[in-house]
Amino acid sequence: MPTIHVALAHSPYDVVVQNGLLAEAGSQITERTLLSGKAAIITDSTVGPLYAETLQASLASSGYTTTLHTVPAGEASKSLSQTEELCREMIRAGHDRSSFVIALGGGVVGDLAGFTASIFYRGIPFIQIPTTIVSLVDSAVGGKTGVNAPEGKNLIGNFHQPALVLADPDTLTTLEPREFREGFAEAIKHAAIRDADMLAELEAHDPLDQIVCPDLIARNIAIKARIVEEDEKELSGTRALLNFGHTIGHGIEASVPYGTLLHGEAISLGIRAALSLSETITGLSPQISQRINAVLAAYQLPLVLDPAISTDTIMEKMMTDKKFAGGQIKFVLLDQLGSAHVSSEVTLDHIRHAIEALRTE
Ligand code: NAD
Ligand code: GLY
Repeated sequence: MPTIHVALAHSPYDVVVQNGLLAEAGSQITERTLLSGKAAIITDSTVGPLYAETLQASLASSGYTTTLHTVPAGEASKSLSQTEELCREMIRAGHDRSSFVIALGGGVVGDLAGFTASIFYRGIPFIQIPTTIVSLVDSAVGGKTGVNAPEGKNLIGNFHQPALVLADPDTLTTLEPREFREGFAEAIKHAAIRDADMLAELEAHDPLDQIVCPDLIARNIAIKARIVEEDEKELSGTRALLNFGHTIGHGIEASVPYGTLLHGEAISLGIRAALSLSETITGLSPQISQRINAVLAAYQLPLVLDPAISTDTIMEKMMTDKKFAGGQIKFVLLDQLGSAHVSSEVTLDHIRHAIEALRTE
């Protein structure tokens, strides 16, 4: 079974990818961790009814006691008030510093449950069981946990690495098709910045087929793992490469009412803009841009901006994003397929032009 070891000095862990892994979660936790306490499973109202029973049965058969904590599905659950509610529920259910948390769900549940684990009794271990493409290829690995503030996304949080990640691609079959496809924006981003050959694999995968090969998931996880090993706390600039397409993408995402554009859809537009800036500034070949844009289009991700969204609004939202801390523009550009760097050469004028260019086919 594909296993990726994340070799962090203070908190190393395994990521296991295998179909049907959910039903083996109990034995995997026993084999791969030293955890022996009671488990608080945190899930959401869509994922819980689909998968919590299988998970709880597997844990029970390996001798673990579990309690189940279900939050409403959706981004609104990533809040401090929901975190407090979960901590209090866990205390009332008898959890203490010997317990551990299991996040069963997409990135929302992973970020929220990881953050809850990071502060409960000053920090207890947690396990990620991701169930969306975004969480399988990106958010379950790397230890970024947190919740949103009314002032902005992901502004309150911690680095808290999981003790284990169990990725079961079978869970992807129940995702809404649009939710399934949007996650591929992050996989296409991984290919663009680090793995030229993987683009061919993404081109070969039928975007409508929700049976995804564990090796493709594992290949993405390995890219993320190597980047996190190099720069766990996003200090050296390596981890910032994962922001390719996200500077303008986040500005677009924040410019429309929540839910209008899914994260991956906004990132698709952000990637197209970052590619055109790369052509201007680093001399990236237009053929590479065309190829990446074609893969985004194959996954039915948007490449043309809705005319109702003004460039001024996007610029304003982009500049309040946490990536603009200190007013400095650090923009990720592609040098060639599979290679990127953080540039200080991008100006607000460049960005404005790139957003305007998203208005034409
Ligand atoms: P999500 O967790 O909201 O899941 C999307 C929807 O799909 C939800 O309604 C959920 O209930 C449902 N769902 C999840 N798994 C399902 C399944 N197997 N079958 C049927 N329905 C299922 O969204 P997401 O796209 O997974 O994650 C987005 C979140 O992740 C954002 O909050 C973002 O900030 C965060 N994120 C974090 C990191 C990180 O490094 N920590 C990285 C990327 C994204
Ligand atoms: N998703 C970006 C990161 O983990 O750094």
